[in-house]
Amino acid sequence: MGSKTRYLVLSTCLVICGQFAAAQQITYIKAGRLLDVADGRMLTDRIIVVRGDRIERTGSASSIDIPADANVVDLSDATVLPGLIDMHVHLMSDPDAHGYKSLAASVPRNALFGAANARRTLTAGFTTVRNVGAGGYADIALRDAINHGDVPGPRMRVTGPALGITGGHCDNNLLPPRFESFAEGVADGPWEIRKQIRENAKYGADLTKFCATGGVLSKGTSVGKQQYTLQEMATIVAESHQRDRKVAAHAHGTEGIKAAIEAGVDSVEHASLIDDEGIRMALDAGTFLVMDIYVSDYILEKGEAAGFLPESLQKELKVGQAQRNSFRRAHEAGVRMAFGSDAGVYPPGMNARQFAYMVQYGMTPMEAIQAATIHAAELLGWPRDVGAIEAGMYADIIAVKGNPLDDIRVLEDVRFVMKGGEIYRQR
Ligand code: ARG
Repeated sequence: MGSKTRYLVLSTCLVICGQFAAAQQITYIKAGRLLDVADGRMLTDRIIVVRGDRIERTGSASSIDIPADANVVDLSDATVLPGLIDMHVHLMSDPDAHGYKSLAASVPRNALFGAANARRTLTAGFTTVRNVGAGGYADIALRDAINHGDVPGPRMRVTGPALGITGGHCDNNLLPPRFESFAEGVADGPWEIRKQIRENAKYGADLTKFCATGGVLSKGTSVGKQQYTLQEMATIVAESHQRDRKVAAHAHGTEGIKAAIEAGVDSVEHASLIDDEGIRMALDAGTFLVMDIYVSDYILEKGEAAGFLPESLQKELKVGQAQRNSFRRAHEAGVRMAFGSDAGVYPPGMNARQFAYMVQYGMTPMEAIQAATIHAAELLGWPRDVGAIEAGMYADIIAVKGNPLDDIRVLEDVRFVMKGGEIYRQR
């Protein structure tokens, strides 16, 4: 064998054999308590067998023999649960620079904020996120870099630029006309809309985000007002679904929420001013609501110091508490809910603070955790891969001290994080 051939064989083996060895790595996790989110119960003294990046099987401690030389993670004094899922994050943003301050960052700088925010998110126990809106396809670069092993971070589903009307919430309205400044996802009317969705798909977006109403943090938009017409929203849904992409609609206002549900979106984000008719429509259509009911406290507390515009603070006062009341009503009515925090508006890593608010506004701790595991996995379209600790799923596993069913806030201090069989935090 010539030296070149030998080199080829060797280097091929280094790649393939390395992958083979990683696939064969087996870890036994001893769980003192294990939260079974699918059946809604807490199990005790369980063992999880992880092979490579997936869970091979789980069982009672008495039913599984651990070989003497095995690789063991001892979590017998902890509660073990599936890695958490956040359906509404903005990893590419600098939480200290809102409003005019945000204009200083370039797309590459935003991507690097994304890398730092991804690590914080993962080590806080969120092993999967849906990033809803980013410029320059930085979200796709980050997702791919994480999947390639370049930077640590959660599994990501991403949107690329969010679609919105000229001058609307998903546009950038901070500068006067001479700067010719507008957000990349601005698309008015059916053909601009279809073209933007096709372009997003071309560069690797997993789903579509659009702005159905005005918002809190944008300049000059009315938070309660519908933006796209019903017809435009229906076009967004048709084009996205035709390409097997789900649709997430930002909507605070009552009419915009109902138009989005009627158009057939998969989830309504925020849903702050949803009325009883909107709740009924969401129930009938099976639409998920993703309600970020912690972030209001952060926005009002940080105020103008973080760059939030005075008008944003005024708008937040209108929707913050109303959204929490809507959350209670929608949950009581039985609407499907998935956990979404809007982290990025505040420092990523603090996502779990929202659980206590979900419990305060009517969910049991188990329901709040289900919103961030099995229900989120369903909305993502990954029900067999993430969101539960079961044979065949990715080994995305976290642990906390204490029992989150007694005190949901223990989720704010995650002690152990495994994603795809690899440990990212252990203390
Ligand atoms: N990005 C959202 C917006 O600007 C944030 C809303 C935050 N407030 C709230 N109550 N959820 O509309």
